[in-house]
Amino acid sequence: MKQQQSTIYWPPEQAEAGVREAAAVLANGGIVAFPTETVYGLGADARSSSAVEGIFAAKGRPSDNPLIVHLADAEAAAALAERLSPLERKLMDAFWPGPLTVVVPVRAGAVSPRVTAGLDTVGVRVPDHELARKLIAASGCPIAAPSANRSGRPSPTTARHVLEDLDGRIDGVLDGGATGVGLESTVVRVLDGAVHILRPGGITAEQLKKAVGDQGRVLSESDGEAAASATGAQSPSEAIAAGGAAAGKPSAPEEEAPRSPGVKYAHYAPKGVMVLVSGDPQRLPAAVQAAADEQRARGSRVGILACAENADAYRADAVLSLGLRSEPEQAAHALYAALRECDDRDISYIVAEAFPEAGIGAALRNRMLKAAGGRVIQA
Ligand code: TXA
Ligand code: MG
Repeated sequence: MKQQQSTIYWPPEQAEAGVREAAAVLANGGIVAFPTETVYGLGADARSSSAVEGIFAAKGRPSDNPLIVHLADAEAAAALAERLSPLERKLMDAFWPGPLTVVVPVRAGAVSPRVTAGLDTVGVRVPDHELARKLIAASGCPIAAPSANRSGRPSPTTARHVLEDLDGRIDGVLDGGATGVGLESTVVRVLDGAVHILRPGGITAEQLKKAVGDQGRVLSESDGEAAASATGAQSPSEAIAAGGAAAGKPSAPEEEAPRSPGVKYAHYAPKGVMVLVSGDPQRLPAAVQAAADEQRARGSRVGILACAENADAYRADAVLSLGLRSEPEQAAHALYAALRECDDRDISYIVAEAFPEAGIGAALRNRMLKAAGGRVIQA
């Protein structure tokens, strides 16, 4: 679509008029970025193939990677789905509005085949953000929206990030300030009474297990898949071979979960090379500093991403704190902005501390591994 156009910026102070105007743009087949509780999305009317094509063109996104459809409520999801199982309904009731995407069988003709990339399923979610909800209501459209970044880049958590990537390529951006969660929604598929986590995210495996209770099981693929997709390897064990034993524990693939097509692409990548330093928290600081010193000696401009407890003691060209080690929500919120800041500061090599994996720590590790292209140093 149009490569150069003027992109309208709707500031937070004019949110009401902004929502009205952005909704009209969507209803006319345009594409606008808007905040959600996770990251900014780039939206279009999910029923219009030409509008949805505009999203792929603006982002440079591979056309075989399907889009999530943003809806007002579970009833709207029922209208797009061929059918909903009791377990799918239960998840929607438990977590909507909120950062959970449920992949369900799509009703023929309900959305453009460009949204589903020709699959017989569609990912649906009800975002927990006032502006997103008002935009959905005012536009009257199911809104197909991937994250509002150029394909491969870290997802945007502010309107400024959106403009960095997409100014001149989209019709407008609604500024709702920084997003809360900072990582994308959890994507799940329910099959034979099991909830498969296709992408970890804002709703944790622990939360899913609690909601499902004895009505089903929750299966995550975790690091094995992240490492596999990051290295282009076909299986977790190959990924370990490619990335070294340090690449983490493979999850037992005794049950093959359906893959989310997006996981095979490079994602969340800063411009510099990144490595994740994982392992014993006591040994982490020395290993991080050693990796940073080695790269500086080779002439790299080195950035370190660390927890607040360790950040002050490091020496590098940039040291960015992601927040308290004991509060992984802080690092989830800060990660993408920190990756972009490294780019702004011309950092060519990033050494990042791994964080604990409990709760949202699982999604955090997944995104950091992808940003690092699977490169891990074991402390
Ligand atoms: O939090 C989020 O989910 C954000 C905000 C904007 O809602 N959206 C987002 O979209 O992260 P995107 O396009 O960047 O990631 C969507 C992921 C991809 O990995 C895609 O492959 C997967 O969801 N997905 C979408 N539809 C699917 C389907 N029918 N089956 C399997 N995976 C699907
Ligand atoms: Mg994305």
